[in-house]
Amino acid sequence: MKKSRYQGVYTDGRNYYTLSSDSKSVYGERVIKKGSRYFHLWNPYRSKLSAAMHLKLKNFPFSKKKILYLGASTGTTVSHLSDISEKIWAVEISPISMKKLLSLAERRENIIPILEDARKCENYSLFVRNPDIIYQDISQRDQVEIFMKNMEQFNVRIGFLMLKTRTIDMRSSPKEVMKRSRRKIEEKYEIKETINISRFQKDHYAFVVVR
Ligand SMILES: C[S@@+](CC[C@H](N)C(=O)[O-])C[C@H]1O[C@@H](n2cnc3c(N)ncnc32)[C@H](O)[C@@H]1O
Repeated sequence: MKKSRYQGVYTDGRNYYTLSSDSKSVYGERVIKKGSRYFHLWNPYRSKLSAAMHLKLKNFPFSKKKILYLGASTGTTVSHLSDISEKIWAVEISPISMKKLLSLAERRENIIPILEDARKCENYSLFVRNPDIIYQDISQRDQVEIFMKNMEQFNVRIGFLMLKTRTIDMRSSPKEVMKRSRRKIEEKYEIKETINISRFQKDHYAFVVVR
């Protein structure tokens, strides 16, 4: 296993891995023991961030940073980011997913789960202290608006938005929806990268946004 081009991430030349003291597989991913620590395979079919990395993502600012993660689900991507970053506030609306996320957070000190609607960011603004990055993966029609509202509320400089085009508009092509979403974001921010991650996640794009 070697260090990859992404800080805090390792590779065997084929897959990406993060290194953790947690021995337990979080979502069925392969875990390889290395002394008292464990390499967890970061599956690009399960995590959109890993998909973007496999498709040559250039910006990867997560090492030792504080992340506000919107749409945490049961913690698949959160678990890898927790191996790399300083702290993650993980917002999730579903109580069922939250149950699994809570058991992950019990083993990982730097994950702070928040059961909330990401549309109502004022409800968690008191707990979330100066995040460096927002990462959002929410399949809702108003996902762009949710993202921009949180960017404003927390005055964050860098955002990652995983766009699911089909939930915004079923009738237009994914590319057309991506372009429309991009124009909306560019009214306020600059888009550093747009990656079509459909090879791993159908009809999805990854945006890297900066203020
Ligand atoms: C595609 S899944 C996220 C997968 C996860 N990001 C990962 O890579 O491990 C989308 C999640 O967003 C959550 N969600 C949907 N609407 C939401 C909202 N308004 N606020 C917070 N979470 C929401 C869903 O319950 C679901 O768990």
